[in-house]
Amino acid sequence: MRRPVIAGNWKMFKTRDEALQFIYAVNLEVPKKDYVETVICAPATVLRDLVKRQGENVRIGAQNVHEQTEGAFTGEISAAMLENVGVDYVIIGHSERRQHFSETDEKVNLKIHQSLRYGLIPIVCVGESLSDREAGTTEPFVKNQVIKALNGLGSTQVEALILAYEPIWAIGTGRTATNEQANDTIAFIRATIAELYGQTVADQIRILYGGSVNTGNIEGLLAEPHIDGALVGGASLQPKSFLSLVKAASEK
Ligand code: 13P
Repeated sequence: MRRPVIAGNWKMFKTRDEALQFIYAVNLEVPKKDYVETVICAPATVLRDLVKRQGENVRIGAQNVHEQTEGAFTGEISAAMLENVGVDYVIIGHSERRQHFSETDEKVNLKIHQSLRYGLIPIVCVGESLSDREAGTTEPFVKNQVIKALNGLGSTQVEALILAYEPIWAIGTGRTATNEQANDTIAFIRATIAELYGQTVADQIRILYGGSVNTGNIEGLLAEPHIDGALVGGASLQPKSFLSLVKAASEK
């Protein structure tokens, strides 16, 4: 049995005041972490505030990390810094970072290694563009991303991380992948993991879907056998919708 995960990705939203309002509103309402792993991936400016106020059942994640331990990298944040403020998760390889900040598969791989060294759980994003989907090349594209992201990791490390399948054409567009499209691609990713690391690891690893997930489509997505939860942008910004998603996952 894989424990479902609902991870909010706030992207570049929420001031400190807004983040505090949110955490106070959701804290007591979140179902037990035995039922669903609930994560909020917030901007760096509010991580410490959220960690200090995280309830029993909420965990906090960052949205990026630098691959080096320390150094002259103006504006960047290290894994040691995240670990030291009490962050437990970090999103790596989000398509917005790949697209706007030139994040390559090689960098994604280095960032995963670095995060694991500091005990952070990477939430590793992969997903194809609309042109790949239309050309029928989704599977080879995503497979290549997975292979490169996980290069050099051992089975125990792979088992512990979280993958998120986020088709780029579904992010922030209101155009969700159908339940079948999401499940089929995630099943394919799981088969890729089985090929690379064996069936036990493939059966253990959590693979989330992301891309216009909302309170109306979450149940259908979670009813699919291979979808272990969701990485959520827009619908994670309001306590009410975020809590409905978490509650839906607690019933999976
Ligand atoms: P939306 O849920 O806003 O489409 O964003 C998805 C996403 O990018 C989560 O990482």
